[in-house]
Amino acid sequence: MMHSDRFHLRIFQLVLVLLLPVQITQGADLGDLKPVEQWEPVASGVWRAELGKMQGEIRYSDLAAAPPRLDALNELPEATFPFAGGSVGYLAENGHQVMVRIPTSPDETLYGFGLQLDGIKHSRKVMTLNVDHWSKGGGRTHAPVPFYISSKGYGVFFNTSRLLKIYNQVGNRKDSLNNPSEVDRNPPEDEPQPGPWLAQPPGDSVEAQVNGPGLELLVFSGSTILEVVQRYNLYHGGGTLPPLWGLGFWHRVHAEFNADQVRQELADFEEKNFPVAVIGLEPGWMTKSYPCTFEWQTKRFPDPEGFTRELLNKGIRLNLWENPYISKNSRLYERMFPLSGSHLVWLGIVPDYTMPEARRLLAEQHGEDHISIGISGYKIDEVDGYDFWLWPDHATFPSGVSGEAMRQSYGLLMQNMLYQDLFKQRNVRTYGLVRAANGGASGYPFVIYSDAYRHKEYLTGMATSSLCGILWTPEARSASNDREWLNRMQTTCFSALAQLNAWSSGKKPWSYDSVTDAVRESIRLRMQLLPYLYTAFSDYYFQGIPPIRAMILEQGFDGTADRIVKGKLDSETNPYAMDQRIEKTDQYMFGPSILVAPFYEDLATQRDVQLPAGNWYDFYSGKLVGNGETISVSASDLRDRIPLFVKDGAIIPMLTQPVDRAKEAVGHPLELRWYGEALGQGHLYEDDTETFDYENGRYRRRIFKIRHGSDNVPSLEIETMGQPDQSLFGEINRFTPMSR
Ligand code: GAL
Repeated sequence: MMHSDRFHLRIFQLVLVLLLPVQITQGADLGDLKPVEQWEPVASGVWRAELGKMQGEIRYSDLAAAPPRLDALNELPEATFPFAGGSVGYLAENGHQVMVRIPTSPDETLYGFGLQLDGIKHSRKVMTLNVDHWSKGGGRTHAPVPFYISSKGYGVFFNTSRLLKIYNQVGNRKDSLNNPSEVDRNPPEDEPQPGPWLAQPPGDSVEAQVNGPGLELLVFSGSTILEVVQRYNLYHGGGTLPPLWGLGFWHRVHAEFNADQVRQELADFEEKNFPVAVIGLEPGWMTKSYPCTFEWQTKRFPDPEGFTRELLNKGIRLNLWENPYISKNSRLYERMFPLSGSHLVWLGIVPDYTMPEARRLLAEQHGEDHISIGISGYKIDEVDGYDFWLWPDHATFPSGVSGEAMRQSYGLLMQNMLYQDLFKQRNVRTYGLVRAANGGASGYPFVIYSDAYRHKEYLTGMATSSLCGILWTPEARSASNDREWLNRMQTTCFSALAQLNAWSSGKKPWSYDSVTDAVRESIRLRMQLLPYLYTAFSDYYFQGIPPIRAMILEQGFDGTADRIVKGKLDSETNPYAMDQRIEKTDQYMFGPSILVAPFYEDLATQRDVQLPAGNWYDFYSGKLVGNGETISVSASDLRDRIPLFVKDGAIIPMLTQPVDRAKEAVGHPLELRWYGEALGQGHLYEDDTETFDYENGRYRRRIFKIRHGSDNVPSLEIETMGQPDQSLFGEINRFTPMSR
């Protein structure tokens, strides 16, 4: 379970200690805090410090899918330690509380803190990073990863599963040398003031506090924010590489569907010419749910094995919903009872999966009932909140892990167990969903979803998830009109997991008449882009580059262009005249070269797109649209297609035709599109699509280069690297210079 490859790491650390002394750049003002003196280099551009005692504490990195990828970390450009010697201070005196203060400068912006759906910048905020549903904000969310990234090019990870309360550039210490001058808020007219009165005098640090005996800090550095993210992901084993089928279109049927209804639904998909790669079964597949048995409801699915086989023969995978809380009606109940915590959830017992015996029991039952008949993965529901649904923080568990740490890490523990004990062990990849995760999760093939449903927030999730090793799906469930449906379906098609979740609405992709063709077209485009998307995921695994990314990770994007609504004094609604910041989080990068700017909410058919510096081209026509400016796009100009823009020189490998199933992509001929004028370079990743053999070098790449011939006619050069027998996609039938 938890990886033990520390020996290798320690030897490496010794080498680095000799090579990379921590750099000292500025002075410190710590007051009564102790300076953190020991920053241990653990890989190139990564340092750790232990405050207090971590023995017996759960560190997220111990739950990561794989040990640090030292090889890949060391290939990144060198990066220096970001803090002045002795400038990080802490207190860890009484054995049950640790606080730390990490300096920041006034022009520094802080990003991250997990899958936050209300914004990407978190300077000047107080957050409690508590695993929960998304609804309240304040730091509570499905993946409140305690990792922040600074605009200065470093990131800090609080590697503990304890609850963390964090003050981001909020609060002023009396010993600080950086406090602004006092300003009289109500001066007489003839008294000049040094500046405007500030409702929130800026703080000069991040201060965090945990109720626990210890805290591990990891610092990741980089010459760009993307490099910081890469280091964070690579330290946790790299990003996940899903099986190719996982990147096809997913449809979750109504919770009460039986086998015949699923068959009918699939026949309708076929008749209406809609691709589908995965069918998700919701709670009704089990004998009992909430709490769960994990056993097949044979009144609905009389022959689970035959049914699963029938779908697999059509190239369709089955994914099973579950929540972890076990019913008295489950054959696991008696044996799991002593291995479970003090409190029930929906009256089901809560197994303590830090215990090997509890893991063994579940893996055995899931192996027999699901995996052996061909089930391809799970959706792990209800591992997040609310407080009144889950166990209290003071709940106890037989391993001695605190109720609080269990809540923070339960989603991760479930992923770790199912991934390692059911799939990795069998050398079979999986792809699925989970409703909570936390630090160190980049290597897990599970994608987060939510019951919250604001389209704008879903778009923000695309950006924030990419800063913390999380994958996120803006799944479509239902809509109040045709246009909203189209916009939501298009967004999900350009995410890590394209899904319609009809568990309650019973919607089909064609449920909204007037947009049926446009919805079909966007699903088909996703299928056509499988080679491009699969290659983007390979970059996640090999280099830690997130496949779906916040614009701030894109070179040339101006992340400072927020709209500030000036606060107006109002004794009832704004008594401190606070400004409001409106961030640009409604566009993102999909793979290395495509910028996606979906229509949504009030911007349902017309919106602005902020282009990074460099020439950008319309995906569909290849026409130049701008360079570093903000452009306006409309649904009518795009003939109801999602706005997509491609950067200069990009080479996009895609299937010549859309396919219905991922397996039809195997051997399928390719088109290579070249955008713009720059003599670009691109690549295509190929492997067996289903096993972990790629981890042992069983893959190949086709490298594409554009050259100008003497007559100025562009020509394409292709070089193949890696294992020649690992061909996946077919030959390149078409090379299209889009912008000529
Ligand atoms: C919800 C979950 C939905 C669906 C439902 C089934 O909590 O978010 O996607 O699975 O449970 O009861």
